[in-house]
Amino acid sequence: MRYLSALFAAAAVRSALAHPGSPHPDAQGRYTLEADGIKAQFIPYGATLTNLFVKDASGKQQDIVLGYDNTSYYPVDPGHPVYNAIPGRYVNRIGNGQYSIGETVYHTEKNDGPNTLHSGTNNWSYRVWNVSAVTNSSITFSISDASNSSLGMIGRVDASVTYSVSKNKWSISMDATSPEAKTPLMLTQHTYFQLDAFTRPENRTVWDHTVYMPEAKRVLVADANALPTGEIATIPAGAIDDFWSEPHQLGFAADQAGFENHCGTGCHGYNGAWAFNAERNKSATVLTLKSMYSGIVASLTTNQEAVILYTCNWNDGKSEFKNTQGVVGQDKFIPRDGCIAIEAQDYVDGINHPEWGRLSKQISGPGDKYHWASSWTFGTA
Ligand SMILES: *[C@@H]1O[C@H](CO)[C@@H](O)[C@H](O)[C@H]1NC(C)=O
Ligand SMILES: *[C@@H]1O[C@H](CO)[C@@H](O)[C@H](O)[C@H]1NC(C)=O
Ligand SMILES: *[C@@H]1O[C@H](CO)[C@@H](O)[C@H](O)[C@H]1NC(C)=O
Ligand SMILES: *[C@@H]1O[C@H](CO)[C@@H](O)[C@H](O)[C@H]1NC(C)=O
Ligand SMILES: *[C@@H]1O[C@H](CO)[C@@H](O)[C@H](O)[C@H]1NC(C)=O
Ligand SMILES: *[C@@H]1O[C@H](CO)[C@@H](O)[C@H](O)[C@H]1NC(C)=O
Ligand SMILES: *[C@@H]1O[C@H](CO)[C@@H](O)[C@H](O)[C@H]1NC(C)=O
Repeated sequence: MRYLSALFAAAAVRSALAHPGSPHPDAQGRYTLEADGIKAQFIPYGATLTNLFVKDASGKQQDIVLGYDNTSYYPVDPGHPVYNAIPGRYVNRIGNGQYSIGETVYHTEKNDGPNTLHSGTNNWSYRVWNVSAVTNSSITFSISDASNSSLGMIGRVDASVTYSVSKNKWSISMDATSPEAKTPLMLTQHTYFQLDAFTRPENRTVWDHTVYMPEAKRVLVADANALPTGEIATIPAGAIDDFWSEPHQLGFAADQAGFENHCGTGCHGYNGAWAFNAERNKSATVLTLKSMYSGIVASLTTNQEAVILYTCNWNDGKSEFKNTQGVVGQDKFIPRDGCIAIEAQDYVDGINHPEWGRLSKQISGPGDKYHWASSWTFGTA
């Protein structure tokens, strides 16, 4: 941890030198960005969002994302769930730990059953990124990822993420290039939300959070390990995956046959990928998440073509939420189903499905410019 603290301190000194008068990190290494109605905090480790405060319906600030108070704990948490970090260089799964570019077959690390998850054990969410720019309302983290540093992904990748805040809004922009070779490149911000900030005394699950995605009428059908089979299915109104026909609470289908194991063997709830209508207006809201308890409404816009929803089935009830959350006097354990990760990205494992036509989006090489952009706007109902 000394090593990380030293890196945090070094990053702080570098940024202070480069940007005189710009904000310094606090004792926990967190950089704070503020604008009207919003306060967001970040650390270089994983380019991670640690805290996100927005106002609830009563005007009280709530910290609506998961994380730890102790920032030194992120790297050692044995169940590291990529809390609000940037996994990379290729997020989510690579089927059977292999893919090909042209005639060459590459083998990646199988760290999730038979598949690769978040690029294996050298993923970007476990690295200390550089702080390359910081102001009171924006911060840029950058990473230079050496060729084959994640097993089987060839060619250096240079990437950066800029987080900024403006009135009631958090914006995220990522750019990356691969100047040496063609490589899989697909990114996301892996944000875990709990719009009640665990303040609802009798219930900490997200089953009463409502999701609405009118442009998401198709889902990537997945196998028992949450790997897409290749089939893209149209979602009938009222089916377990239907969040398009009308807003549905996340628990709306809990009594339907098939809800258990819906997201893989032993998994209930959601851990799937929805594909957006390609003709949609990319400047318009594509997903709304709302809690009637806190009254907080979060609206997503993105230039990405799909989104992962994961309702925290694997939370084991042993991790605690932050001191900025919960009810004084209650314990702080996060239950199974206690959060929802929302990850805008391209189609999962598209590098192994040329029939989907995603290769030009997911394989980057010399001359290509990868760009990912999303924003979350917060309000109350
Ligand atoms: C923070 O986490 C680190 C890593 O687990 C640990 O060594 C340290 O004691 C923790 N600090 C506090 C105040 O709990
Ligand atoms: C990411 O890398 C870390 C450090 O090697 C590893 O512990 C973790 O399991 C990896 N993440 C995933 C999703 O495999
Ligand atoms: C940034 O915030 C700090 C602390 O609130 C303040 O002292 C400083 O003037 C701000 N800088 C700018 C450029 O607004
Ligand atoms: C941060 O910058 C230094 C100096 O340019 C470089 O050596 C290091 O690899 C960079 N760190 C990351 C995570 O890219
Ligand atoms: C990538 O690294 C692995 C493990 O170190 C090695 O076996 C493999 O040959 C490397 N691949 C390339 C193309 O360098
Ligand atoms: C929380 O609310 C959901 C949805 O109403 C319900 O299914 C679940 O049993 C409740 N959990 C607890 C611990 O009361
Ligand atoms: C797309 O959505 C934005 C934001 O809601 C709106 O301002 C714009 O008029 C829409 N464009 C079209 C062509 O509908």
